[in-house]
Amino acid sequence: MSKFWSPFVKDLVPYVPGEQPKLSKLVKLNTNENPYGPSPKAIAAMQAEVNDDLRLYPDPNGDRLKQAVADYYGVQTSQVFVGNGSDEVLAHAFHGLFQHDAPLLFPDISYSFYPVYCGLYGIEQQQVPLDEQFQIRVEDYARPNGGIIFPNPNAPTGCLLPLEAIERLLQGSPDSVVLVDEAYIDFGGQTAIALVDKYPNLLVTQTLSKSRSLAGLRVGIAVGHPDLIEALERIKNSFNSYPLDRMAIAGAAAAFEDRAYFEKTCQQVIESREVVVAGLQGLGFEVLPSAANFVFARHPDKDAATLAAGLREQGVIVRHFKQQRIAQFLRITIGTPEQNQALLDALQGL
Ligand SMILES: Cc1ncc(COP(=O)(O)O)c(C=O)c1O
Repeated sequence: MSKFWSPFVKDLVPYVPGEQPKLSKLVKLNTNENPYGPSPKAIAAMQAEVNDDLRLYPDPNGDRLKQAVADYYGVQTSQVFVGNGSDEVLAHAFHGLFQHDAPLLFPDISYSFYPVYCGLYGIEQQQVPLDEQFQIRVEDYARPNGGIIFPNPNAPTGCLLPLEAIERLLQGSPDSVVLVDEAYIDFGGQTAIALVDKYPNLLVTQTLSKSRSLAGLRVGIAVGHPDLIEALERIKNSFNSYPLDRMAIAGAAAAFEDRAYFEKTCQQVIESREVVVAGLQGLGFEVLPSAANFVFARHPDKDAATLAAGLREQGVIVRHFKQQRIAQFLRITIGTPEQNQALLDALQGL
């Protein structure tokens, strides 16, 4: 704290990201990154941008990327927004679409950045408890609200809400924005982008950090009705004209264009997930059904914090949350087959 801080900064409660250790030998299963590299075509596209043109600003609209996303999903470019990681896209949505008189609704177990953005933008929030099986109960959201947001699959549970349930939720709140945060949708879910032409209050965000293995590039997207996209553009153009640099626009567009690589690596992660689930169950863990690139698991007799510390001593890092309802769970990212085996071997001895 310093006397130079504004009262607002003094009261902020920032998000704490998962650890990015400096040691490279660790088996890093704590931040849901992709164990496989990005598409070689994306890397080549980024390398091609490293030239004298870097003296020039990038395209402020990222049109090349918007076009690649529009082509991929069969939507118009006016329905696409691009930003510096989906966290930034989410921030603009909170700022531009959720600042209303009624509270924003989201699950009690959910992405822990949501309450942080509520604090940053002064948005009233109501956390809606997941049911006993850690599932979203759509009926609980049919109440006055200034917006609804949830990840699908949910994080950190990995549980998927089917599109039919999302439609019921949209129908229950036609007058507020429903934001489906699809950071992990490509590992086993169906995207709600299929519904954006039918529901003008639906905004879908995605990231290139997970299924397209570009966490280091920082690119996220949103797809929805042009009116919702315009709100995000207004915020973006009041904040930073160039959130995506030249490498990011080219690399992300190429990643969307390289479907074959994307589908192959997603499939590898999905197959590995089933191996990890079986291995954990074999060790006595209860594992929630996951449609993501991570699993959420608890052991009936072993304390999760102790397990996380024991794994760390053996060079394997996973994520443990202190929040009371999930304090006995570990969130484990799916790695390469070798990393997954190292995890299971390490757990065996704990
Ligand atoms: C549910 C969810 N949404 C959004 C993000 C942010 O992703 P990024 O800012 O890397 O696009 C994450 C990252 O872990 C996430 O888990």
